[in-house]
Amino acid sequence: MKCNLKSALISDTTLPNALNDWLKNTPLNKEQQNRYASWLNTNGNDIKEVLNEYFSSDSLKDTITPVWLYHEGENSIATILINQNQAAPEPGEYGSLLAYARAYGYDEKFLCSDCYGQLSCSSCAVEVLQGKTKNPTPKDEEYDMLDIDLDRPPTEFTRLSCQTVVGNEPLFCKIRNT
Ligand code: FES
Repeated sequence: MKCNLKSALISDTTLPNALNDWLKNTPLNKEQQNRYASWLNTNGNDIKEVLNEYFSSDSLKDTITPVWLYHEGENSIATILINQNQAAPEPGEYGSLLAYARAYGYDEKFLCSDCYGQLSCSSCAVEVLQGKTKNPTPKDEEYDMLDIDLDRPPTEFTRLSCQTVVGNEPLFCKIRNT
């Protein structure tokens, strides 16, 4: 489910402690945090309930992996509560960030995949800013593709989302504009 941070109204920003602690440590700025918190208290209420349980106990740690995809160009954030028992097979690696984005309804306009996970572009690049993936070290073929996009030179956090496999740690990722 996507929260448009541009238009989400700031209203009730109160969140349960564990969820609030997580939000305060994200790379979102203060205004974005307030808009996301307000959205969780309104349209995103179902997601809030699951996230609160996830962060305040261990009961969901073996079944759900929360992933946030912050889209810089849209100023929006997709919250994906990945069911660990239903791995998304493609595009790219089995259980990749890109595969889950597609499985949960996020299309090419939100996260590009010009070569459909064939490791011959870098349009699917994201920055994994928080959390450890299942394969934290890019293989050579992925590494070689990271710097081909001159408009989005890689940082230490850059990965190709079609090659980045989701594990059981929450991930906060950014789809860069430039
Ligand atoms: S979609 Fe082309 S490398 Fe990932």
